Amino acid sequence: MTKTSSFQAPKGVPDYFPPNSAEFVAVRDGLIRAARLAGYGHIELPIFEDTALFARGVGESTDVVSKEMWTFDDRKGKSYTLRPEGTAGVMRAVIENSLDRGQLPVKLCYAGPFFRYENVQAGRYRQLQQVGVEAIGVDDPALDAEVIAVADTGFRALGLTDYRLELTSLGDDTCRPQYRELLQEFLFKLPLDEETRRRAQINPLRVLDDKRPEVKEMTADAPLMIDHLSESAKAHFDQVLGFLDGMGVPYVVNPRMVRGLDYYTKTTFEFVHDGLGAQSGIGGGGRYDGLMEKLGGQALSGIGFGIGVDRTVLALKAEGKTVTDGSSVDVYGVPLGEVAKQHLVALAAQLRAAGIRTDLAYGGRGLKGAMKGADRSGARFALVLGDREVTEGQIGLKDLRTGEQRSIPLTETVAQVAAALAAE
Ligand code: HAM
Repeated sequence: MTKTSSFQAPKGVPDYFPPNSAEFVAVRDGLIRAARLAGYGHIELPIFEDTALFARGVGESTDVVSKEMWTFDDRKGKSYTLRPEGTAGVMRAVIENSLDRGQLPVKLCYAGPFFRYENVQAGRYRQLQQVGVEAIGVDDPALDAEVIAVADTGFRALGLTDYRLELTSLGDDTCRPQYRELLQEFLFKLPLDEETRRRAQINPLRVLDDKRPEVKEMTADAPLMIDHLSESAKAHFDQVLGFLDGMGVPYVVNPRMVRGLDYYTKTTFEFVHDGLGAQSGIGGGGRYDGLMEKLGGQALSGIGFGIGVDRTVLALKAEGKTVTDGSSVDVYGVPLGEVAKQHLVALAAQLRAAGIRTDLAYGGRGLKGAMKGADRSGARFALVLGDREVTEGQIGLKDLRTGEQRSIPLTETVAQVAAALAAE
């Protein structure tokens, strides 16, 4: 029989497994904790939704919708898409379940995988993980500042330092259309190539984000949205900055910021990390007044963010920092003989019932191999039991940091281990 070839994960889909998965979980849970502290409740969203939801919500002209969606027909020919982002799905769930008929703002938090058919490179995946929040139904600059501060607090709590918060205002209905025309007028006078000219027609703002030096030079004097905000949009933005100052959240205003999704209005922001190379965005978000109405709901405002968990893990690595979810065990049992094994299996169950994280050496390994297992497990203590100790009613408690071992009465194991761990 010929050997079948082995399998590989799909391109751009990272695996997380121990011990490094502890870091992934710690980052994800740390970011969720920051959202919980500010009153955001959990929402569990479908992994796939009606394709039209994303087309209409995220915008047909965006790369995400036009090039990166994982779209498929179900068995009856209905088109679904693996979620490329979370905001449109949250809006759909809020509208469908009338969450917006209760107290406002509706504050929700989600975590999980998202899917974009991207050109894979370091920090840019096809299955990416985000923690996101959305606050819907109140147009208050203090809420913008809260959302931004939640992300900032999450990053800081993880120990991240080498990043900056960039923000700007993209204006609203009362000033963006006029600014768009002004910008197009400016761009159409430039000697742009065909494709860039087309981009200027569809989404002129994106031309300001062009990385080519010659385009950068040509657009250096382009009019900027931030200088053409309506009075109310400007007042909103100034207040956001004031609240951020009050909370001690540092920021830089970047009037040339361009986001990859179409729904943004007014406050828009990005967290940029210096240690990540080209894929430096560790999180981003903004206000999206108008999105809910566009998706068939009430005319309610909203603001939120999505933080890239994968990239935050990479950012911590770039800073030489580690976080852990404490998933290693406290105690590792080493049975030496069949009778000892009977006892240790039962003891492990008792220790776990007492909330003590416990693992065992399985497969009848000898003392040396089992002790190696104990060291690798990351446990603080080993419980070493031979058949002779069982008859004596004793068990060895070994401190894996100092190497010291003492004998304790078998019947007192759970209490003594708990006391030893508490003494840490
Ligand atoms: P986004 O900027 O497209 O926004 O994505 C948010 C974050 O997800 C990015 O800053 C980045 O860290 C991470 N990310 C995006 N694409 C990839 C990828 N291919 N590989 C690895 N990480 C990636 C949104 O998705 C909006 N829904 C955020 C939002 C919520 N705005 C308002 N509410």
